Amino acid sequence: MISTSVERLLYLVATVLFITGLKQLQSPETARRGNQVSALGMLLAIIVTLLSTKTVTYATIAAGLLVGGALGLYMARSVKMTSMPQMVALLNGVGGGSSLLVATAEFLHLQQTGATASVDVALSTHLGVLIGAVTLTGSAIAWAKLQEVMTGKAIVFGGQKTVNALLFAVIVALASWLIVVPTAPLWAFYALIGLSLLIGVLLVIPIGGADMPVVISLLNSYSGIAAAMTGFVIKSEVLVVSGALVGSSGIILSQIMCKAMNRSLSNVLFGAFGAAAGKSSKTAEGLVAKTTNVEEAALQLAYAQTVIVVPGYGLAVAQAQHQVRELMDLVEKRGGSVKFAIHPVAGRMPGHMNVLLAEANIPYDKLLDMDDINPEFERTDVCLVIGANDVVNPAARTDPSSPIFGMPILNADLAKRCIVMKRGMSAGFAGIENELFYGERTQMLFGDAKGTLSKLVAEVKQV
Ligand code: TAP
Repeated sequence: MISTSVERLLYLVATVLFITGLKQLQSPETARRGNQVSALGMLLAIIVTLLSTKTVTYATIAAGLLVGGALGLYMARSVKMTSMPQMVALLNGVGGGSSLLVATAEFLHLQQTGATASVDVALSTHLGVLIGAVTLTGSAIAWAKLQEVMTGKAIVFGGQKTVNALLFAVIVALASWLIVVPTAPLWAFYALIGLSLLIGVLLVIPIGGADMPVVISLLNSYSGIAAAMTGFVIKSEVLVVSGALVGSSGIILSQIMCKAMNRSLSNVLFGAFGAAAGKSSKTAEGLVAKTTNVEEAALQLAYAQTVIVVPGYGLAVAQAQHQVRELMDLVEKRGGSVKFAIHPVAGRMPGHMNVLLAEANIPYDKLLDMDDINPEFERTDVCLVIGANDVVNPAARTDPSSPIFGMPILNADLAKRCIVMKRGMSAGFAGIENELFYGERTQMLFGDAKGTLSKLVAEVKQV
Protein backbone atom coordinates (compact mmCIF):
# COMPACT_ATOMS: atom_id res chain seq x y z
CA MET A 1 0.00 0.00 0.00
CA ILE A 2 2.98 2.30 0.54
CA SER A 3 6.20 2.41 -1.47
CA THR A 4 9.37 0.93 -0.02
CA SER A 5 11.12 4.29 0.11
CA VAL A 6 8.24 5.90 2.06
CA GLU A 7 8.17 2.87 4.33
CA ARG A 8 11.90 3.18 5.08
CA LEU A 9 11.62 6.92 5.62
CA LEU A 10 8.80 6.45 8.13
CA TYR A 11 10.78 3.74 9.93
CA LEU A 12 13.63 6.22 10.17
CA VAL A 13 11.27 8.76 11.76
CA ALA A 14 10.12 6.06 14.21
CA THR A 15 13.76 5.33 15.07
CA VAL A 16 14.48 9.00 15.76
CA LEU A 17 11.41 9.09 18.03
CA PHE A 18 12.68 6.01 19.96
CA ILE A 19 16.08 7.60 20.52
CA THR A 20 14.65 11.01 21.47
CA GLY A 21 12.29 9.29 23.91
CA LEU A 22 15.14 7.33 25.48
CA LYS A 23 17.17 10.50 25.88
CA GLN A 24 14.25 12.15 27.69
CA LEU A 25 14.08 9.25 30.15
CA GLN A 26 17.33 10.59 31.62
CA SER A 27 15.54 12.98 33.95
CA PRO A 28 12.32 12.44 35.93
CA GLU A 29 11.14 15.83 34.67
CA THR A 30 11.12 14.76 31.02
CA ALA A 31 10.63 10.99 31.53
CA ARG A 32 6.85 11.05 31.06
CA ARG A 33 7.23 12.91 27.77
CA GLY A 34 10.02 10.54 26.77
CA ASN A 35 7.69 7.60 27.26
CA GLN A 36 5.02 9.25 25.12
CA VAL A 37 7.50 10.14 22.36
CA SER A 38 8.80 6.55 22.24
CA ALA A 39 5.24 5.19 22.26
CA LEU A 40 4.43 7.49 19.33
CA GLY A 41 7.45 6.06 17.50
CA MET A 42 6.19 2.54 18.17
CA LEU A 43 2.68 3.45 16.98
CA LEU A 44 4.14 4.83 13.76
CA ALA A 45 6.26 1.70 13.27
CA ILE A 46 3.20 -0.52 13.83
CA ILE A 47 1.03 1.47 11.39
CA VAL A 48 3.74 1.39 8.69
CA THR A 49 4.21 -2.36 9.24
CA LEU A 50 0.46 -2.94 9.01
CA LEU A 51 0.27 -0.97 5.76
CA SER A 52 3.15 -2.87 4.21
CA THR A 53 2.34 -6.34 5.52
CA LYS A 54 1.23 -8.78 2.92
CA THR A 55 1.61 -12.08 4.71
CA VAL A 56 -1.33 -12.15 7.13
CA THR A 57 -4.84 -10.80 6.87
CA TYR A 58 -6.04 -7.77 8.79
CA ALA A 59 -8.62 -9.95 10.52
CA THR A 60 -5.84 -12.07 12.02
CA ILE A 61 -3.93 -8.97 13.10
CA ALA A 62 -7.08 -7.44 14.63
CA ALA A 63 -7.77 -10.64 16.57
CA GLY A 64 -4.22 -10.66 17.93
CA LEU A 65 -4.41 -6.98 18.83
CA LEU A 66 -7.72 -7.45 20.60
CA VAL A 67 -6.66 -10.44 22.70
CA GLY A 68 -3.15 -9.13 23.45
CA GLY A 69 -4.34 -5.56 24.07
CA ALA A 70 -7.12 -6.66 26.42
CA LEU A 71 -4.74 -8.89 28.39
CA GLY A 72 -2.10 -6.16 28.58
CA LEU A 73 -4.65 -3.55 29.68
CA TYR A 74 -5.98 -5.84 32.39
CA MET A 75 -2.49 -6.69 33.67
CA ALA A 76 -1.28 -3.08 33.67
CA ARG A 77 -4.36 -1.82 35.51
CA SER A 78 -4.48 -4.58 38.10
CA VAL A 79 -0.78 -4.98 38.91
CA LYS A 80 0.33 -3.65 42.27
CA MET A 81 3.32 -1.31 42.30
CA THR A 82 5.24 -3.84 44.41
CA SER A 83 4.57 -6.60 41.85
CA MET A 84 5.93 -4.57 38.96
CA PRO A 85 9.19 -6.57 38.70
CA GLN A 86 7.15 -9.77 38.15
CA MET A 87 5.11 -8.03 35.46
CA VAL A 88 8.28 -6.84 33.72
CA ALA A 89 9.63 -10.40 33.93
CA LEU A 90 6.50 -11.73 32.23
CA LEU A 91 6.64 -9.12 29.49
CA ASN A 92 10.32 -9.88 28.82
CA GLY A 93 9.45 -13.56 28.57
CA VAL A 94 6.68 -12.82 26.08
CA GLY A 95 9.12 -10.71 24.02
CA GLY A 96 11.67 -13.53 23.98
CA GLY A 97 8.94 -16.06 23.17
CA SER A 98 7.72 -14.08 20.19
CA SER A 99 11.25 -13.78 18.78
CA LEU A 100 11.55 -17.55 19.20
CA LEU A 101 8.29 -18.10 17.33
CA VAL A 102 9.14 -15.72 14.47
CA ALA A 103 12.63 -17.24 13.99
CA THR A 104 11.11 -20.76 14.10
CA ALA A 105 8.39 -19.84 11.58
CA GLU A 106 10.99 -18.37 9.21
CA PHE A 107 13.19 -21.46 9.51
CA LEU A 108 10.28 -23.85 8.85
CA HIS A 109 9.05 -21.70 5.97
CA LEU A 110 12.47 -21.92 4.29
CA GLN A 111 12.51 -25.69 4.86
CA GLN A 112 9.08 -26.08 3.25
CA THR A 113 9.99 -24.00 0.20
CA GLY A 114 13.31 -25.82 -0.14
CA ALA A 115 15.17 -22.49 -0.24
CA THR A 116 18.57 -22.11 1.41
CA ALA A 117 19.21 -19.26 3.80
CA SER A 118 22.42 -17.28 3.52
CA VAL A 119 24.89 -17.81 6.38
CA ASP A 120 24.09 -14.47 8.05
CA VAL A 121 20.33 -15.13 7.98
CA ALA A 122 20.82 -18.70 9.24
CA LEU A 123 23.10 -17.46 12.04
CA SER A 124 20.59 -14.75 13.05
CA THR A 125 17.78 -17.35 13.01
CA HIS A 126 19.57 -19.69 15.40
CA LEU A 127 20.70 -16.84 17.64
CA GLY A 128 17.10 -15.59 17.68
CA VAL A 129 15.94 -19.07 18.70
CA LEU A 130 18.61 -19.47 21.39
CA ILE A 131 18.30 -16.03 22.98
CA GLY A 132 14.51 -15.96 22.61
CA ALA A 133 14.14 -19.37 24.29
CA VAL A 134 16.55 -18.47 27.13
CA THR A 135 14.61 -15.24 27.69
CA LEU A 136 11.29 -17.10 27.71
CA THR A 137 12.11 -19.78 30.28
CA GLY A 138 14.59 -17.63 32.26
CA SER A 139 11.91 -14.96 32.69
CA ALA A 140 9.35 -17.59 33.69
CA ILE A 141 11.69 -18.74 36.49
CA ALA A 142 12.39 -15.13 37.52
CA TRP A 143 8.64 -14.53 37.70
CA ALA A 144 8.07 -17.72 39.73
CA LYS A 145 10.81 -16.74 42.20
CA LEU A 146 9.48 -13.24 42.72
CA GLN A 147 5.86 -14.41 42.90
CA GLU A 148 7.02 -17.00 45.47
CA VAL A 149 5.54 -19.79 43.38
CA MET A 150 8.93 -21.45 43.85
CA THR A 151 11.70 -20.91 46.36
CA GLY A 152 13.49 -17.57 46.05
CA LYS A 153 16.73 -19.14 47.22
CA ALA A 154 19.54 -20.01 44.85
CA ILE A 155 19.15 -23.64 43.66
CA VAL A 156 22.60 -25.13 43.29
CA PHE A 157 23.82 -28.68 42.63
CA GLY A 158 27.22 -30.27 42.11
CA GLY A 159 28.66 -29.89 38.62
CA GLN A 160 26.06 -27.27 37.68
CA LYS A 161 28.49 -25.10 35.76
CA THR A 162 29.87 -28.12 33.89
CA VAL A 163 26.36 -29.23 32.91
CA ASN A 164 25.60 -25.72 31.64
CA ALA A 165 28.87 -25.56 29.70
CA LEU A 166 28.20 -28.98 28.11
CA LEU A 167 24.66 -28.02 27.18
CA PHE A 168 25.91 -24.82 25.64
CA ALA A 169 28.52 -26.73 23.63
CA VAL A 170 25.80 -29.05 22.27
CA ILE A 171 23.65 -26.03 21.33
CA VAL A 172 26.58 -24.44 19.46
CA ALA A 173 27.28 -27.75 17.70
CA LEU A 174 23.63 -28.16 16.64
CA ALA A 175 23.40 -24.57 15.38
CA SER A 176 26.68 -24.94 13.44
CA TRP A 177 25.42 -28.18 11.87
CA LEU A 178 22.17 -26.53 10.81
CA ILE A 179 24.02 -23.57 9.30
CA VAL A 180 26.70 -25.56 7.45
CA VAL A 181 24.42 -28.39 6.29
CA PRO A 182 21.05 -26.89 5.26
CA THR A 183 19.69 -30.41 4.68
CA ALA A 184 20.37 -31.44 8.29
CA PRO A 185 17.38 -33.30 9.80
CA LEU A 186 14.59 -31.27 11.38
CA TRP A 187 15.01 -32.98 14.76
CA ALA A 188 18.29 -31.07 15.16
CA PHE A 189 16.37 -27.80 15.01
CA TYR A 190 13.78 -29.02 17.55
CA ALA A 191 16.59 -30.25 19.80
CA LEU A 192 18.15 -26.78 19.55
CA ILE A 193 14.87 -25.23 20.72
CA GLY A 194 14.44 -27.75 23.56
CA LEU A 195 17.99 -27.37 24.87
CA SER A 196 17.79 -23.56 24.63
CA LEU A 197 14.60 -23.61 26.70
CA LEU A 198 16.33 -25.88 29.23
CA ILE A 199 19.44 -23.73 29.54
CA GLY A 200 17.23 -20.69 30.26
CA VAL A 201 15.90 -22.53 33.33
CA LEU A 202 19.34 -23.74 34.42
CA LEU A 203 20.89 -20.29 34.11
CA VAL A 204 18.34 -18.60 36.38
CA ILE A 205 17.68 -21.20 39.11
CA PRO A 206 21.10 -20.67 40.79
CA ILE A 207 20.40 -16.97 41.18
CA GLY A 208 18.84 -15.95 44.49
CA GLY A 209 15.59 -13.96 44.64
CA ALA A 210 17.61 -11.02 46.01
CA ASP A 211 19.32 -10.63 42.65
CA MET A 212 16.19 -11.08 40.54
CA PRO A 213 15.83 -7.38 39.63
CA VAL A 214 19.29 -7.47 38.01
CA VAL A 215 18.42 -10.72 36.23
CA ILE A 216 15.16 -9.23 34.98
CA SER A 217 16.99 -6.23 33.58
CA LEU A 218 19.46 -8.58 31.91
CA LEU A 219 16.65 -10.72 30.46
CA ASN A 220 15.06 -7.52 29.22
CA SER A 221 18.29 -6.89 27.38
CA TYR A 222 18.23 -10.46 25.99
CA SER A 223 14.68 -9.97 24.74
CA GLY A 224 15.95 -6.91 22.82
CA ILE A 225 18.89 -8.82 21.35
CA ALA A 226 16.57 -11.68 20.33
CA ALA A 227 14.26 -9.15 18.65
CA ALA A 228 17.22 -7.59 16.82
CA MET A 229 18.28 -11.04 15.58
CA THR A 230 14.74 -11.69 14.38
CA GLY A 231 14.87 -8.29 12.65
CA PHE A 232 17.81 -9.56 10.59
CA VAL A 233 15.88 -12.74 9.75
CA ILE A 234 12.73 -11.00 8.52
CA LYS A 235 14.73 -8.03 7.16
CA SER A 236 13.02 -5.46 9.34
CA GLU A 237 15.37 -2.55 10.04
CA VAL A 238 13.07 -1.02 12.62
CA LEU A 239 13.04 -4.28 14.59
CA VAL A 240 16.84 -4.42 14.47
CA VAL A 241 17.08 -0.85 15.78
CA SER A 242 14.44 -1.16 18.50
CA GLY A 243 15.85 -4.53 19.58
CA ALA A 244 19.36 -3.08 19.77
CA LEU A 245 18.09 -0.14 21.85
CA VAL A 246 16.37 -2.48 24.32
CA GLY A 247 19.42 -4.77 24.34
CA SER A 248 21.92 -2.03 25.11
CA SER A 249 19.80 -0.12 27.62
CA GLY A 250 19.07 -3.36 29.52
CA ILE A 251 22.78 -4.08 29.79
CA ILE A 252 23.52 -0.54 30.98
CA LEU A 253 20.76 -0.75 33.60
CA SER A 254 22.07 -4.12 34.84
CA GLN A 255 25.53 -2.56 35.21
CA ILE A 256 24.15 0.42 37.14
CA MET A 257 22.36 -1.92 39.57
CA CYS A 258 25.44 -4.08 40.04
CA LYS A 259 27.54 -1.00 40.74
CA ALA A 260 24.99 0.22 43.30
CA MET A 261 25.29 -3.13 45.09
CA ASN A 262 29.08 -3.22 44.64
CA ARG A 263 28.88 -6.56 42.84
CA SER A 264 30.08 -7.64 39.45
CA LEU A 265 27.61 -8.94 36.87
CA SER A 266 29.36 -12.31 36.88
CA ASN A 267 29.07 -12.47 40.67
CA VAL A 268 25.31 -11.88 40.33
CA LEU A 269 24.94 -14.49 37.59
CA PHE A 270 27.27 -17.17 38.86
CA GLY A 271 27.92 -16.28 42.53
CA ALA A 272 24.77 -18.05 43.86
CA PHE A 273 24.23 -15.12 46.27
CA GLY A 274 21.24 -15.98 48.40
CA ALA A 275 21.91 -19.73 48.56
CA ALA A 276 22.45 -19.13 52.26
CA ALA A 277 20.01 -16.22 52.52
CA GLY A 278 19.24 -15.17 56.05
CA LYS A 279 22.81 -15.67 57.22
CA SER A 280 23.83 -12.62 59.16
CA SER A 281 27.41 -11.53 59.56
CA LYS A 282 26.70 -9.94 62.93
CA THR A 283 23.96 -10.60 65.41
CA ALA A 284 22.34 -8.02 67.63
CA GLU A 285 22.81 -10.01 70.83
CA GLY A 286 23.08 -7.76 73.85
CA LEU A 287 22.19 -4.65 71.87
CA VAL A 288 19.08 -2.67 72.70
CA ALA A 289 17.28 -0.44 70.23
CA LYS A 290 15.82 2.79 71.63
CA THR A 291 12.21 3.41 70.70
CA THR A 292 10.20 6.58 70.40
CA ASN A 293 6.52 7.42 69.94
CA VAL A 294 4.51 9.52 67.52
CA GLU A 295 4.28 12.53 69.89
CA GLU A 296 8.03 12.72 70.47
CA ALA A 297 8.85 12.16 66.81
CA ALA A 298 6.34 14.85 65.77
CA LEU A 299 7.99 17.36 68.13
CA GLN A 300 11.43 16.65 66.67
CA LEU A 301 10.17 17.00 63.13
CA ALA A 302 8.19 20.15 63.86
CA TYR A 303 11.23 21.96 65.26
CA ALA A 304 13.81 20.59 62.81
CA GLN A 305 15.46 23.04 60.44
CA THR A 306 16.70 20.32 58.14
CA VAL A 307 15.08 16.94 57.48
CA ILE A 308 16.21 14.19 55.12
CA VAL A 309 13.71 11.44 54.33
CA VAL A 310 15.15 8.08 53.27
CA PRO A 311 12.37 6.15 51.51
CA GLY A 312 12.66 2.38 51.07
CA TYR A 313 10.73 -0.70 50.08
CA GLY A 314 8.47 -0.46 53.18
CA LEU A 315 7.19 2.95 52.04
CA ALA A 316 6.22 1.39 48.71
CA VAL A 317 4.52 -1.61 50.33
CA ALA A 318 2.56 0.66 52.64
CA GLN A 319 1.74 3.04 49.73
CA ALA A 320 2.53 5.91 52.09
CA GLN A 321 3.77 8.40 49.48
CA HIS A 322 0.86 10.82 49.91
CA GLN A 323 1.24 10.89 53.70
CA VAL A 324 4.97 11.63 53.40
CA ARG A 325 4.13 14.49 51.04
CA GLU A 326 1.69 15.91 53.63
CA LEU A 327 4.36 15.66 56.30
CA MET A 328 6.84 17.43 54.03
CA ASP A 329 4.37 20.28 53.43
CA LEU A 330 3.79 20.72 57.17
CA VAL A 331 7.49 20.79 58.06
CA GLU A 332 8.18 23.27 55.27
CA LYS A 333 5.28 25.47 56.35
CA ARG A 334 6.99 25.71 59.72
CA GLY A 335 10.21 26.88 58.07
CA GLY A 336 12.12 23.59 57.88
CA SER A 337 13.65 22.17 54.72
CA VAL A 338 12.88 18.62 53.57
CA LYS A 339 14.90 16.60 51.07
CA PHE A 340 14.61 13.01 49.91
CA ALA A 341 17.67 10.76 49.67
CA ILE A 342 17.31 8.30 46.81
CA HIS A 343 19.48 5.19 46.81
CA PRO A 344 19.76 3.60 43.34
CA VAL A 345 18.51 0.20 44.58
CA ALA A 346 16.02 1.37 47.22
CA GLY A 347 12.86 -0.63 46.73
CA ARG A 348 12.62 -3.53 44.33
CA MET A 349 13.21 -2.09 40.88
CA PRO A 350 15.16 0.72 39.27
CA GLY A 351 13.56 4.11 39.81
CA HIS A 352 11.06 2.60 42.28
CA MET A 353 11.31 5.52 44.73
CA ASN A 354 11.29 8.22 42.05
CA VAL A 355 8.10 6.85 40.51
CA LEU A 356 6.44 6.50 43.91
CA LEU A 357 7.29 10.00 45.11
CA ALA A 358 6.45 11.54 41.73
CA GLU A 359 2.98 10.00 42.07
CA ALA A 360 2.50 12.13 45.20
CA ASN A 361 3.73 15.23 43.28
CA ILE A 362 6.84 15.65 45.36
CA PRO A 363 8.96 18.11 43.33
CA TYR A 364 11.84 16.46 41.45
CA ASP A 365 14.37 18.93 42.79
CA LYS A 366 13.75 17.54 46.27
CA LEU A 367 14.87 14.05 45.22
CA LEU A 368 18.64 13.85 45.57
CA ASP A 369 20.93 11.08 44.41
CA MET A 370 23.20 9.33 46.90
CA ASP A 371 26.37 11.22 45.96
CA ASP A 372 24.67 14.60 46.21
CA ILE A 373 22.88 14.02 49.51
CA ASN A 374 25.48 12.03 51.46
CA PRO A 375 27.64 15.03 52.47
CA GLU A 376 24.49 16.68 53.92
CA PHE A 377 23.59 14.07 56.55
CA GLU A 378 26.11 15.31 59.13
CA ARG A 379 24.49 18.71 59.32
CA THR A 380 20.92 17.38 59.22
CA ASP A 381 18.72 17.69 62.32
CA VAL A 382 16.48 14.70 61.65
CA CYS A 383 16.87 11.83 59.21
CA LEU A 384 13.58 10.00 58.78
CA VAL A 385 14.12 6.49 57.44
CA ILE A 386 10.80 5.11 56.17
CA GLY A 387 10.71 1.38 55.43
CA ALA A 388 14.35 1.30 54.29
CA ASN A 389 16.90 -1.07 55.73
CA ASP A 390 19.80 -2.39 53.61
CA VAL A 391 20.39 0.96 51.91
CA VAL A 392 21.19 2.57 55.30
CA ASN A 393 23.11 -0.35 56.83
CA PRO A 394 26.51 0.91 58.09
CA ALA A 395 27.87 -2.66 57.91
CA ALA A 396 28.35 -1.95 54.20
CA ARG A 397 31.01 0.55 55.29
CA THR A 398 32.44 -1.09 58.39
CA ASP A 399 32.04 -4.88 58.38
CA PRO A 400 34.17 -6.75 55.81
CA SER A 401 32.37 -10.01 56.71
CA SER A 402 28.98 -8.58 55.76
CA PRO A 403 27.46 -9.78 52.46
CA ILE A 404 26.73 -6.16 51.58
CA PHE A 405 30.23 -4.89 52.46
CA GLY A 406 31.32 -2.31 49.91
CA MET A 407 27.80 -1.43 48.77
CA PRO A 408 27.51 2.37 48.76
CA ILE A 409 24.93 3.42 51.35
CA LEU A 410 23.09 6.53 52.49
CA ASN A 411 24.80 8.01 55.57
CA ALA A 412 21.68 8.07 57.75
CA ASP A 413 23.77 7.09 60.79
CA LEU A 414 25.70 10.37 60.56
CA ALA A 415 22.65 12.64 60.98
CA LYS A 416 22.24 14.42 64.35
CA ARG A 417 19.12 12.32 65.00
CA CYS A 418 17.74 9.36 63.06
CA ILE A 419 14.17 8.13 63.34
CA VAL A 420 13.63 4.72 61.73
CA MET A 421 10.04 3.85 60.85
CA LYS A 422 9.29 0.15 60.33
CA ARG A 423 6.94 -2.44 61.74
CA GLY A 424 9.42 -4.41 63.84
CA MET A 425 13.05 -5.48 63.88
CA SER A 426 12.84 -7.68 60.76
CA ALA A 427 15.73 -7.74 58.35
CA GLY A 428 15.56 -6.22 54.88
CA PHE A 429 16.10 -7.82 51.50
CA ALA A 430 19.66 -8.97 52.20
CA GLY A 431 18.45 -10.75 55.35
CA ILE A 432 21.04 -9.22 57.67
CA GLU A 433 21.12 -7.31 60.97
CA ASN A 434 21.36 -3.50 60.84
CA GLU A 435 23.60 -1.67 63.36
CA LEU A 436 21.89 1.62 62.59
CA PHE A 437 18.89 0.51 64.65
CA TYR A 438 21.07 0.26 67.77
CA GLY A 439 22.99 3.48 67.16
CA GLU A 440 23.41 6.23 69.80
CA ARG A 441 21.44 8.76 67.77
CA THR A 442 18.78 6.37 66.46
CA GLN A 443 15.20 5.97 67.65
CA MET A 444 12.87 3.31 66.31
CA LEU A 445 9.26 4.29 65.57
CA PHE A 446 7.39 1.04 65.09
CA GLY A 447 4.26 0.59 62.99
CA ASP A 448 3.03 0.40 59.42
CA ALA A 449 4.52 3.32 57.48
CA LYS A 450 1.18 4.65 56.23
CA GLY A 451 -0.61 4.50 59.60
CA THR A 452 2.33 6.01 61.50
CA LEU A 453 2.84 8.78 58.95
CA SER A 454 -0.87 9.70 59.16
CA LYS A 455 -0.57 9.94 62.94
CA LEU A 456 2.63 11.99 62.63
CA VAL A 457 0.88 14.40 60.26
CA ALA A 458 -2.00 14.83 62.70
CA GLU A 459 0.41 15.34 65.58
CA VAL A 460 2.66 17.88 63.79
CA LYS A 461 -0.49 19.91 63.04
CA GLN A 462 -1.09 20.14 66.81
CA VAL A 463 2.41 21.39 67.66
P1 TAP B 1 14.85 -3.45 52.47
O1 TAP B 1 16.27 -3.55 52.87
O2 TAP B 1 14.23 -4.58 51.75
O3 TAP B 1 14.02 -3.14 53.80
C1 TAP B 1 12.69 -2.79 53.76
C2 TAP B 1 12.19 -2.69 55.20
O4 TAP B 1 10.87 -2.19 55.15
C3 TAP B 1 12.12 -4.02 55.92
O5 TAP B 1 13.18 -4.15 56.85
C4 TAP B 1 10.73 -4.01 56.60
O6 TAP B 1 10.91 -4.15 58.01
C5 TAP B 1 10.17 -2.65 56.27
N1 TAP B 1 8.75 -2.68 55.93
C6 TAP B 1 8.11 -3.62 55.18
N2 TAP B 1 6.80 -3.31 55.10
C7 TAP B 1 6.62 -2.17 55.82
C8 TAP B 1 5.49 -1.36 56.12
N3 TAP B 1 4.25 -1.66 55.67
N4 TAP B 1 5.66 -0.25 56.88
C9 TAP B 1 6.90 0.06 57.35
N5 TAP B 1 7.99 -0.67 57.11
C10 TAP B 1 7.86 -1.77 56.35
O7 TAP B 1 14.59 -2.15 51.59
P2 TAP B 1 15.58 -1.05 51.02
O8 TAP B 1 16.36 -0.41 52.12
O9 TAP B 1 14.72 -0.20 50.14
O10 TAP B 1 16.63 -1.87 50.18
C11 TAP B 1 16.33 -2.47 48.94
C12 TAP B 1 16.94 -3.85 48.85
O11 TAP B 1 16.52 -4.46 47.63
C13 TAP B 1 18.45 -3.84 48.83
O12 TAP B 1 18.94 -4.96 49.50
C14 TAP B 1 18.76 -3.95 47.37
O13 TAP B 1 20.05 -4.49 47.08
C15 TAP B 1 17.66 -4.90 46.92
N6 TAP B 1 17.55 -4.79 45.47
C16 TAP B 1 16.93 -3.71 44.93
C17 TAP B 1 16.97 -3.55 43.57
C18 TAP B 1 16.38 -2.33 42.95
S1 TAP B 1 16.72 -2.05 41.43
N7 TAP B 1 15.67 -1.51 43.65
C19 TAP B 1 17.57 -4.49 42.76
C20 TAP B 1 18.18 -5.58 43.36
C21 TAP B 1 18.14 -5.73 44.72
P3 TAP B 1 9.68 -4.66 58.95
O14 TAP B 1 9.25 -5.96 58.36
O15 TAP B 1 10.28 -4.77 60.29
O16 TAP B 1 8.61 -3.61 58.85
